[in-house]
Amino acid sequence: SGRFTYDPGFTSTASCESKLTYIDGEEGILLHRGYSIEQLSEDSSFMEVAYLMLRGELPTPDEYEEFTRTITLHTMVHEQLKTLYNGFRRDAHPMAIMCGVVGALSAFYHDSTDINDPEQRKIASHRMIAKMPTIAAMAYKYAIGQPFLYPDNSLSYTGNFLRMTFGVPAEPYEVNPVVERALDRIFILHADHEQNASTSTVRLAGSSGANPFACIAAGIACLWGPAHGGANEAALNMLTEIGHPSRIPEYIARAKDKDDPFRLMGFGHRVYKNYDPRATVMRKTVREVLSSLGVTNPVFDVALQLEEMALNDDYFIEKKLFPNVDFYSGIILSAIGFPTSMFTALFALARTVGWVAQWNEMIEDPAQRIGRPRQLYTGPTQRDYIPLDKR
Ligand code: CMC
Repeated sequence: SGRFTYDPGFTSTASCESKLTYIDGEEGILLHRGYSIEQLSEDSSFMEVAYLMLRGELPTPDEYEEFTRTITLHTMVHEQLKTLYNGFRRDAHPMAIMCGVVGALSAFYHDSTDINDPEQRKIASHRMIAKMPTIAAMAYKYAIGQPFLYPDNSLSYTGNFLRMTFGVPAEPYEVNPVVERALDRIFILHADHEQNASTSTVRLAGSSGANPFACIAAGIACLWGPAHGGANEAALNMLTEIGHPSRIPEYIARAKDKDDPFRLMGFGHRVYKNYDPRATVMRKTVREVLSSLGVTNPVFDVALQLEEMALNDDYFIEKKLFPNVDFYSGIILSAIGFPTSMFTALFALARTVGWVAQWNEMIEDPAQRIGRPRQLYTGPTQRDYIPLDKR
């Protein structure tokens, strides 16, 4: 009891008003600025969705052209930023590097940190969206000991990221259009998801007036956890560990066992209690990508059979646990050639659009105040200090 509403995990507290993303968890509906995720992921592009989220409307062809050009102008990172990478161990997790390097952007771009100036906020937003692919690709290159590649602005946002990741200076790199489209779709599906943990983290960090790049770094730190963005990596690792459909029942039994902390990774969602509409799109895309690349992946069979067994199991039915977006994204990403350790970095790259749009919306909201949750204190009541020699 107390003067405050107790709501651990914020299951029933609206922290803000927002015009960006609508979710109906019972019906499995996800809309960005009113447009369904099914239509956006089918017909739109990630850059168009970025424009939509930042500006509120779909761009005209001229606006689209100008926006992509503007983002393109910011794809390079300061040369000095490169030296930061050398301070990391080669076996550092890419998300550890991302937390550090994105946070460090706040030490580089001083002309876009006055958050009360809409023009500076715009530049900071463009910079963040533009530099994330470069920073993520550099984290990968550093891990495998290959030289960093500069961005090539004749390519699309996603094509450019593929080249910076998989290209080498010595060879020309051909962007595979099927891979480019699939990855762009994954980016669209991850662009925003209203007040999830990492987005709430960005808003909370930003509510104190903190440096915009530092706020995004806070979001990256939160996303890293296996209950959130880290689930795509954990899901693929789990499917690989299961290895063969015959071992699925053992894992399902473990997931149901209350004495075993194991959970089926890529299953369940705080808001979706019917199905995750992003998972439906992703499931379709997996088939397209695997057949077009000619990749046969035994992990996909494990995934499909696991899904079927879980969906017909009373435990999962009663608890309304369905595959979420991360259950399938990992299969596509590994078919493309990304190591599992990069999966969450890709999620961060895409979610940057949502973080930046939400951060701007918060700053422009006249009702915005510093975020300051209260608590129910359950510690001791007031008591007298006893000197050390008397204890
Ligand atoms: N496997 C087995 N049991 C589960 C699972 C699972 N994946 N997810 C939830 N449960 C059970 C849980 O044990 C609990 O049972 P009980 O009521 O008997 O204690 C019940 O279902 C409700 O779970 P909860 O943890 O109270 O639900 P939540 O809303 O706090 O957590 C979640 C949601 C996504 C963190 C959780 O379902 C989970 O840990 N899933 C696995 C990780 C995962 O895939 N995360 C990605 C989320 S989607 C991408 C993103 O937005 O980042």
